[in-house]
Amino acid sequence: MTIRQEEKKDYQQVFELTEEAFRDTEQSDHQEHFLVEKLRKSEAFIPELSLVAEDENGKIVGHILFTKIQIVNDSESFESLALAPVSVKPEFQNQGLGGQLIREGHRIAKELGYQSVILIGYEKYYPRFGYEKTSNFGISFPFEIPEENGMAIELIKDGLKDKKGVVKYPKEFGID
Ligand SMILES: CC(C)(COP(=O)(O)OP(=O)(O)OC[C@H]1O[C@@H](n2cnc3c(N)ncnc32)[C@H](O)[C@@H]1OP(=O)(O)O)[C@@H](O)C(=O)NCCC(=O)NCCS
Repeated sequence: MTIRQEEKKDYQQVFELTEEAFRDTEQSDHQEHFLVEKLRKSEAFIPELSLVAEDENGKIVGHILFTKIQIVNDSESFESLALAPVSVKPEFQNQGLGGQLIREGHRIAKELGYQSVILIGYEKYYPRFGYEKTSNFGISFPFEIPEENGMAIELIKDGLKDKKGVVKYPKEFGID
């Protein structure tokens, strides 16, 4: 399995993979494949942080996307990243691929100078990669979610220290 930056020629396969990965997922609006398409055209898009996992036959079996977000409070605004979505082809799930995509994404994000990542997801999955509840950092969302599903990681020491605020998503997420 190779993890590499997504290229234009991968877009169709990523579209199909994302739709398939989320098809039977309960906590999903089943629009994630459209979200990926919108985010690629967004100012929040970072080409180096749209990664695919390719098998030995050149078939795309996993994808992860991190886009730019802001943490905003009354006086300041801080840059962070949203991890969304991450997709693994059903027959390749539970073999560690999601974890590899997340770790490689973190490595590249750190190299690019990003200090943190924020996500909404399964509270049993992401803590193994170092994610904690966003409430531990004084970070909240512009909508109601169960507290345990909002998570963040500091990619460098104190990456979220004194960066309290509300997450502001790019408009392509369709929030507010
Ligand atoms: C979630 C996902 C990206 C994880 O990738 P993966 O390669 O299957 O996961 P890994 O092999 O790295 O890790 C496996 C672990 O993830 C857990 N996991 C996988 N899907 C899960 C889910 N829907 N809910 C809770 N835990 C889940 C497994 O139970 C397993 O846990 P264990 O190690 O304690 O047994 C993948 O299953 C997927 O594409 N799911 C459908 C789309 C989705 O839900 N995306 C994430 C939205 S937050």
